[in-house]
Amino acid sequence: MDPAEFWATGDYAVVGDLWAQPGRDLATSLELQGRDVVDLATGTGVTAIAATARGARSVVGVDVTPALLREAARRADRAGVEVTWVTADVLEVPLPSRCADVVTSTFGIVFAADPAAALAEARRLARPGGQIVFTSWSATGLFGQVRQTLAPFFPAAPEPWHETADGIHAVAGPGARVSEESFVMVVESPERFVSLLEQHSAPIILGAESLGAAWPEAREQLVTTVHEAGEDTDGAFRVPVGYLRTTLGERTARARRS
Ligand SMILES: C[S@@+](CC[C@H](N)C(=O)[O-])C[C@H]1O[C@@H](n2cnc3c(N)ncnc32)[C@H](O)[C@@H]1O
Repeated sequence: MDPAEFWATGDYAVVGDLWAQPGRDLATSLELQGRDVVDLATGTGVTAIAATARGARSVVGVDVTPALLREAARRADRAGVEVTWVTADVLEVPLPSRCADVVTSTFGIVFAADPAAALAEARRLARPGGQIVFTSWSATGLFGQVRQTLAPFFPAAPEPWHETADGIHAVAGPGARVSEESFVMVVESPERFVSLLEQHSAPIILGAESLGAAWPEAREQLVTTVHEAGEDTDGAFRVPVGYLRTTLGERTARARRS
């Protein structure tokens, strides 16, 4: 299945909003004033839209799934901000080399079929002295635990490279700076969270489909994993979610425009 068909399954906008905080935190943490930003695998544009609020000179959001870019455009319109949306695969982005001071990707390029090629494309877009910053779920965080809970049901699935610093260094090079980050995801309950995943999240919908009769057992284990990861407070279920943030390039992104 090609990535556009895969990510058009379900409705990423519904579940993506549950973990939108890292995209906002990423934009807030970067020096973007007057800078040109490209956000790869932008989805509904959470990181791209947040970058506009940080004073970026220009923001481009790239994604392979047209329905998600349409939603991103609606959200940018509602927010009254300007982002250029480009429908493309991150392996072949139709933008000129050295067009960005900062290239971002939240839980995006790490899913590309050829991650080294996706990073090479991100490097091509970045100006000398620029920065590439991407996030990925970590092995010890909630989504790493979710994957590990489901792993016995999918014995042929490979270990993701982007869940550990060692895996990231193997693909992105020893100079990649990897930090552990976290945010608190708020959901109604573990049961409701898993129900949202099975209705709207492409990997879970397609995984459940392929498991068929084994899905209810996997689902039950998933609910237990989520339950053990968080706690009920004030009528809501709060789960701390760990993830990794990787930076390539200069610390301050003083890019040189050519
Ligand atoms: C988990 S979502 C993350 C979206 C967004 N960055 C966020 O933080 O919510 C993964 C996104 O990657 C996009 N994607 C996956 N493979 C891609 C590829 N090869 N080229 C472009 N976009 C891709 C999907 O369409 C989807 O929007």
